Amino acid sequence: MENNTLKFLLNDKQVEIDFLKTDYLPSTTVLNYLRSQSDLSGTKEGCAEGDCGACTVVLVELLDHQLIYKTIDSCLLFLASIHGKQLITVEYLSQKKGQDIVLHPVQQAMVNYHGSQCGFCTPGFVMSIFGMHKSETPVNDKSIIETLSGNLCRCTGYKPIADAVQHDCHLKFDDHISAKEGQVKNQLIGINHSIPSLKIHASEQIYLLPSTLEEAISLKKNYPESRIINGATDIAIRQNKTHEYLPCILDVSNIKCLKKIDEIDGFFLLGSGVTIEQFKIFSENYYKPFQKITDVFASLQIRNAATIGGNLSTASPIGDLIPLFYAVKAKLQITGSKGDRVVNIEDFITGYRKNCLQNDELLVSILLPFLEDDIFVFSEKVSTRRDLDIATVSLAARLKLSSGNRVDEIILAYGGMAETVKRAEKAENFLIGKLWSQDNIEAAMAFIEQDFTPLSDARSGKEYRSTVSKNLLLKLFLLKRSGIVNN
Ligand SMILES: Cc1cc2nc3c(=O)[nH]c(=O)nc-3n(C[C@H](O)[C@H](O)[C@H](O)COP(=O)(O)OP(=O)(O)OC[C@H]3O[C@@H](n4cnc5c(N)ncnc54)[C@H](O)[C@@H]3O)c2cc1C
Ligand code: FES
Ligand code: FES
Repeated sequence: MENNTLKFLLNDKQVEIDFLKTDYLPSTTVLNYLRSQSDLSGTKEGCAEGDCGACTVVLVELLDHQLIYKTIDSCLLFLASIHGKQLITVEYLSQKKGQDIVLHPVQQAMVNYHGSQCGFCTPGFVMSIFGMHKSETPVNDKSIIETLSGNLCRCTGYKPIADAVQHDCHLKFDDHISAKEGQVKNQLIGINHSIPSLKIHASEQIYLLPSTLEEAISLKKNYPESRIINGATDIAIRQNKTHEYLPCILDVSNIKCLKKIDEIDGFFLLGSGVTIEQFKIFSENYYKPFQKITDVFASLQIRNAATIGGNLSTASPIGDLIPLFYAVKAKLQITGSKGDRVVNIEDFITGYRKNCLQNDELLVSILLPFLEDDIFVFSEKVSTRRDLDIATVSLAARLKLSSGNRVDEIILAYGGMAETVKRAEKAENFLIGKLWSQDNIEAAMAFIEQDFTPLSDARSGKEYRSTVSKNLLLKLFLLKRSGIVNN
């Protein structure tokens, strides 16, 4: 049954948008929607590609009877995807009391510590700090950097802003937003109960937002040309920057079972809709070797939206998770109208930005085997900038040594060296059975040159890529020797 009407809470007001009676497309970004409202111009557009954070809003979702607050870049958020959620903008933070405007404690902290000059970036910073406060993140140096790394400021420098968080935002305080949480919960339950799914047939775009996997499978069968999206961080950029037209979208971000992490028969089972932020926390607890990569994956705003399924499905040669999943021999569960199948990660990626999914299929989950004690996993990403940058070259490696210090098993999965993530097979074959020694590693480095013919592009030259790829192998050796690599 068609349902063309999107319902969500905009701050404390319920909004309904019937896409048959409006000029907005379901894939209009939330930023563009807000900018078209005369009283909501606090949210700014800086880059429209997820880099500057000027457009940061807080999205509130009801999960297991709890309100979950997430900071998100509204320039990459499709309007129809916020169905059944609360959207909090900077305008909602302060309160009018009589003739006065009382700033939210987070805003007052920015004033107290001189965290704003021209003010263009300030609403974005305020929303990031507000999100930190609402998600009850403990305030310390690391969490401040993580919270602010998705916001750019060209005037103030970051010290006064960090000071504002450090000194005035660490105390627990209730605000008028907390006071209304009970009411918000009831309103969101009401919307999600009455309209769990959307099936929008607007004149220029079909937007399908199922709430169950069964519904998604049936929709994919009936709309085989539909473009699946989850966090949309990859797809929205194309709409914003290259004006790619998306005639039919199947948005799977509202399917709760795809966001779960479980354990099953020696594997961790991660739903394809697990966000990169969820995956980062999972890695800190269960898969420590992945932390080096998850720590530098984009920004919190992007990690809160982007998913592991989206990252794998892009099949990008510089997708951060793909080499990691090669190294641990991940398996992927796929489902479609003809049934389910499981494929190895290496069979999933079939070419430059191509995967093995058929038109009626979608990626459901990822199986990561528990790491055995004698397996070492190494990961490293080399990029121009540490934070919020994609890889120039990356390596994820798996290593098993025999009791005689010989190489029993090795996987060297490189990103950024070929049109897909690719293993350095010649170097691997050379090392198998050999003594794990610096001489042999240096000899293997020569094979890496034979394994790859890297390209020069805007990101770097081929000579640089070639040198870095060899040095990453040496780094694996040196770290293993120093005992720093651990699981
Ligand atoms: C500012 C910025 C920084 C970034 N930094 C990084 C970074 O550091 N490292 C990195 O690797 N990437 C980075 N990215 C790229 C992107 O965020 C990631 O690839 C992300 O994981 C994509 O997930 P998504 O859910 O947003 O995908 P979407 O945009 O929703 O989808 C991406 C692709 O996957 C397909 N897809 C999604 N879900 C499924 C499914 N369940 N079944 C089948 N197909 C599916 C879609 O059809 C689409 O082709 C960055 C992007 C931005 C905008
Ligand atoms: S406008 Fe720059 S991140 Fe959205
Ligand atoms: S205060 Fe001007 S950009 Fe931050």
